[in-house]
Amino acid sequence: MSAPIGVFDSGLGGLTVAAAIRAALPREAIVYLGDTARVPYGTRSPATIVRYARNNVAFLKRQDVKLVVIACNTVSAHALGGLADGGDVPVLGVIRPGARVAVEASRGGTIAVLGTPVTVRSGAYEQAIHELDPNREVVQIACPLFVPLVEEGWTAHEVTRLVAQEYLGPLAGTRVDTIILGCTHYPLLREVITETAQRLLGRSVEVVDSATAVARDVAAFLQRAGLEAPEGDGSPPQRFCVTDAPDRVGDVARRFWGEQLGAFEHVDVFMGGPPGGGQA
Ligand code: DGL
Repeated sequence: MSAPIGVFDSGLGGLTVAAAIRAALPREAIVYLGDTARVPYGTRSPATIVRYARNNVAFLKRQDVKLVVIACNTVSAHALGGLADGGDVPVLGVIRPGARVAVEASRGGTIAVLGTPVTVRSGAYEQAIHELDPNREVVQIACPLFVPLVEEGWTAHEVTRLVAQEYLGPLAGTRVDTIILGCTHYPLLREVITETAQRLLGRSVEVVDSATAVARDVAAFLQRAGLEAPEGDGSPPQRFCVTDAPDRVGDVARRFWGEQLGAFEHVDVFMGGPPGGGQA
């Protein structure tokens, strides 16, 4: 089926997931939606996040996507069940794939989850890890400043190192052997996070994210459902949409996507309603 895969995030971090889908499934068309008008989601209430997520899914459905990928941990933690239930378009999230990768990578030690305050409060990763391994010790750390630092492009800045040192301080003296980057922005801070964690722990640590695992799940799902794109001639279309200031996203977006990417379109996901007032 040649319909596109819809991918959305609160902002541009989800491009790390879209890029992994693109690499794994080069025949598939993708429509990416970044809700840049309302980012960040990670400090908002669950009810607001669910409302925003519904706007985004409705927009992607209007683009006739065959599958929606929630490329945002914050939304996956709170809204996946509600968005997936009873809908006509299947919806996949990022938490379970991330938990699976972490359990596979770990050598039996404690797993640390780094995420937005809302993701951490939801306990969604801890629950997903315990579904795989009920006895596994999990620690969670909310890292609210990481998202704005990444959006600012300060991925290797001294300030970011200091912030990482502060957030990751509680890892010292623990049995942590694996860290989940539980926010789609954090893969851009992998180096800083890995260095800081290893210094604090005094040994090496696995640092994993869900992007590649999500791409694998998407491939398996499309195959099972008979929804794979037919053999084509040339590159399938990729659309990049944002809800605000498309002219301001270029540099940051390129860092997430990792290669040349087309122009961003400005789109309205609110259908005339007030931003944040949203309609289901
Ligand atoms: N990219 C979002 C996530 O994966 C976090 C950004 C935000 O706070 O909106 O959780």
